[in-house]
Amino acid sequence: VAWNSLSSRFVEMNPRLFTFTGGDSGLWTVTYFQPVVGEPLPEIKRIDITSGISVASSKGPKWTLRGIVSNERYVTRIEKDQLVAKQAAPGRSGSTHAGLIPIRKNAAWWALTQDERRAIFEERSHHVQAGLKYLPNVARRLHHCRDLGDNEPFDFITFFDFCSSDASAFEDLVAELRATEEWKFVDREIDIRLVRQD
Ligand code: HEM
Repeated sequence: VAWNSLSSRFVEMNPRLFTFTGGDSGLWTVTYFQPVVGEPLPEIKRIDITSGISVASSKGPKWTLRGIVSNERYVTRIEKDQLVAKQAAPGRSGSTHAGLIPIRKNAAWWALTQDERRAIFEERSHHVQAGLKYLPNVARRLHHCRDLGDNEPFDFITFFDFCSSDASAFEDLVAELRATEEWKFVDREIDIRLVRQD
């Protein structure tokens, strides 16, 4: 068996791999779609999110993004325990609203060392402490893209879901994070908001 077919079978079976297809079909309907910084993405009407296997929709998506759920890089034990105690997984009934925010960080960020990035991420930007206040109402899943290939358009696909009454609180959190030092390193970001039927 060719290595190619072995490796593609491996990727298809990885439950931590998520595929986001933007087009005319999918569970999620786009309610807001705006580039925040950097190159835009073609605007689409609907998004489908699949795990484990990437299938192109028969209607032909306009774009496909991929990301992998991975281990944490920066959190301390104390922070991890705080997160685990409060957080919920996406996909709850009632979580009919979502934010999908693809993000890329610049070369200066990636040239830093782990301890330098941690200092910016938490000691100076308070990313986890800010986010903790919104748990469990906002559920999140972080997907890493950087190691999937050399030409991935984003470093992270971030996904959050919540009920309609938490939609404005979610915008407060996004605004708070965008004002931090961490976000000075973001050079591509797209704001996508979604709704689905319960
Ligand atoms: C809902 C509350 C939130 C919490 C509790 C939270 C918490 C976290 C945690 C624990 C990490 C992983 C740190 C690690 O690797 O050790 C992380 C990473 C990240 N989060 Fe959040 N976050 C929240 C909201 C957000 C929002 C709203 C955005 C986007 C606007 C965002 C964007 C990111 C990005 C891009 C990363 C990857 C950072 C990197 O590795 O350089 N987060 N977040």
